[in-house]
Amino acid sequence: MTKVTKALITGITGQDGAYIAESLLSKGYQVFGMYRRRATDPFDNIDHIKNKINLVSGDLCDGHSIQEVVEETNPDEVYNLGAQSFVKVSFNQPHVTRDINFYGVDRLLHSLFRFNKKIRFYQASTSEMFGDVLETPQSEFTPFNPVSPYGEAKLAAHELVKEYRKRGMFCCGGILFNHESPRRGLQFVTRKITHSVAKIHLGLQDKLSLGNLNAERDWGHAIDYVEAMWLMLQQDTPDDYVIATGKKITVRDFVELAFKKIGREIEWVGEGLDEKGYSNGQVVVDVDEKFFRPNEVNLLLGDPSKAKKELGWEPRASLEDLVFSMVQNDLTLLEK
Ligand code: NAP
Ligand code: GDD
Repeated sequence: MTKVTKALITGITGQDGAYIAESLLSKGYQVFGMYRRRATDPFDNIDHIKNKINLVSGDLCDGHSIQEVVEETNPDEVYNLGAQSFVKVSFNQPHVTRDINFYGVDRLLHSLFRFNKKIRFYQASTSEMFGDVLETPQSEFTPFNPVSPYGEAKLAAHELVKEYRKRGMFCCGGILFNHESPRRGLQFVTRKITHSVAKIHLGLQDKLSLGNLNAERDWGHAIDYVEAMWLMLQQDTPDDYVIATGKKITVRDFVELAFKKIGREIEWVGEGLDEKGYSNGQVVVDVDEKFFRPNEVNLLLGDPSKAKKELGWEPRASLEDLVFSMVQNDLTLLEK
């Protein structure tokens, strides 16, 4: 009888956790998803597969729970996706961010190493570690220069992953650039835009207020990116990989694409805090400084050539398809 591969996913209730769970189930894995206790139901993203996965309770801030989860689930592969993942919040909650995003990884790796050194480990590293970028595009060779507590904690975790790799564990750091989907949290700029555009279309909201419209990101689709995580753990040797599309646009461009989906063109007037986006003579976008960050990452653009060469990975979804699917999903949700 062939052995079923067991995967443990932390961050199962998040965007990537839900997509990788679906993908691993389709590959015949037994899937364990770690979730933390919440006052309200956190299972929106995984309602449809809840009866196919094994949910285990644990918190990256609690070493006891992690040890128990590792022992109970006895995994072959671990995907550590749990994090305080919102960069802006990390500026006023730096301690909790570091506790989850760095010490959480420390706790988990320590437990795994003691329990079974053969477990393969994926760490959700991030392009935010490049911060105030020192070269463009950013590859595995680009020096890191984080500018947020989030980026700093993720970089410390990334270095720890390398340490455990030197100790013989199969650990990979996926340096993933921004990836989005209809399951993206509403705080992140892409989903905030698509949700607001859908509301404006349905007459439920007048305008959308944003922060830095000039920020440039390399946005891909989360479904493509979770496939890269899995591919990393199937290689003969562990390594770190940049996962990106190699294309960038501004927040302003993203806004235009989202409005295009509902058949509206945006005309931009003014600059800085006074910039406004008009459609049919009505202000539908403005700038509010409360959405600025104390320190900004202005540009992220990845070079995914190593992933293409070594993993055979390439992004499939186009940016237009991504934006349109997000707006369509929000329209459907709001029309219910
Ligand atoms: P997400 O939607 O914000 O999900 C984060 C997950 O972490 C949620 O399930 C959350 O649970 C869980 N979590 C938070 N604190 C925890 C704790 N103390 N113990 C256990 N679980 C905890 O994030 P995502 O977009 O799926 O991203 C997945 C991972 O990739 C994160 O580590 C993120 O930092 C990293 N990353 C994301 C991107 C991107 O563009 N999406 C790019 C690079 C790297 P609750 O539901 O209880 O809050
Ligand atoms: N959230 C948000 N809200 N961002 C805004 C807004 C706004 O109203 N207006 C402009 N922005 C700008 C931010 O300043 C930032 O430059 C850019 O839009 C993207 O912001 P987010 O969508 O919040 O994502 P992020 O790039 O800070 O972080 C995401 O990507 C990282 C990978 O680079 C998160 O998913 C991180 O967890 C991930 O590591």
